[in-house]
Amino acid sequence: MTVIGTANEAEIERAAAVLAGGGLVAFPTETVYGLGADAADAAAVGRVFSVKGRPTDHPLIVHIADAAAVDQWAIDIPTTARLLADAFWPGPLTLLLDRAPSVPDAVTGGRSTVGLRVPDHPMARALLNAFSALRPNAPVGVAAPSANRFGRVSPTTADHVRADLGDDVDLVLDGGPCDVGVESTIVDCTQAEPVVLRLGGVSLERLADVLGIEPGVSVTDDAVTQAGGARAPGMLEAHYAPRARVEVVEASAVVDRARSLLAGAGTAPASGGATTVVVLAPSALDDLPDDVIELEPAGPPDDFARVLYDRLRQADRLGADVLLVVPPPAAGVGAAVRDRLRRAAASHPPDPA
Ligand code: TXA
Ligand code: MG
Repeated sequence: MTVIGTANEAEIERAAAVLAGGGLVAFPTETVYGLGADAADAAAVGRVFSVKGRPTDHPLIVHIADAAAVDQWAIDIPTTARLLADAFWPGPLTLLLDRAPSVPDAVTGGRSTVGLRVPDHPMARALLNAFSALRPNAPVGVAAPSANRFGRVSPTTADHVRADLGDDVDLVLDGGPCDVGVESTIVDCTQAEPVVLRLGGVSLERLADVLGIEPGVSVTDDAVTQAGGARAPGMLEAHYAPRARVEVVEASAVVDRARSLLAGAGTAPASGGATTVVVLAPSALDDLPDDVIELEPAGPPDDFARVLYDRLRQADRLGADVLLVVPPPAAGVGAAVRDRLRRAAASHPPDPA
């Protein structure tokens, strides 16, 4: 594995050559780091699935250089999709569209749709442009999931990528910490009305502003339900999980919960005790027991999103048995943060206490 710091033109070109040769390049986007392969190369895309340990029926997002490239990968593109692309690309929005015949099954898991996004990070865009220059007459795209092992916390720094994937990736471009910090919002544009399938960097409020209506939402999340979104059964996946058991608690309940966990310390895990209790909250909390480790407060929703995954990893480095998280308000990107926390909490056995 080669790690490239401040990328200059030669380094970007080297990364593009790795892609063209069927290799894997981890690269920064504004949301999280992606593990990229040439989207037109089924064998390279296959390596992404094996490195991630991801089931092959979970399709990959194809990253493209600009909105004009949509027509290379999708067909029957509705006006709504063009509107959203105009408003939010480059940016943290993925559009699900009917796939063009040229899209390999390996990318879409055999589905009839493809997820497309133009990332907003100078290094990602330079990489896409350099790769496009190597393929003047072909559809150019980089298929990339988040650069973490399946089910784990997404990487928001090059160090996170190295820690997760080590030598399984041919090259890592280091573009510093990601600005947004949670994944892109996914909007299904293949139905009569757009439906949000994953909350992310573009908030529901901003989508509604552009669409002129509240979009349908088909994820299971308390914030979404509060916002009047439709609930889709069976969407709650165990995902985004650190090793520590995550519990989402309101600020008023943290002190009691921490005390009760510590009181059970040293007893069998089934009793619900925890030796190392770590707390993450938007702002500093009063009256925490001395034995509790309080992480640096995560701040309001945008800041919380930016630091979320790094804090989850930090809790693991501290050896947390339990990470108590006070979520940010559901406004803006806060809804995506709450969604990820919920899934992280669902990834561990329910607390028996
Ligand atoms: O912010 C992001 O979206 C990051 C960066 C690297 O762009 N990528 C990312 O990819 O989060 P990934 O693979 O970790 O998550 C993409 C999600 C998966 O749940 C996948 O199943 C879904 O998008 N997806 C992709 N294409 C799809 C399709 N055609 N139909 C349904 N779901 C799709
Ligand atoms: Mg992912």
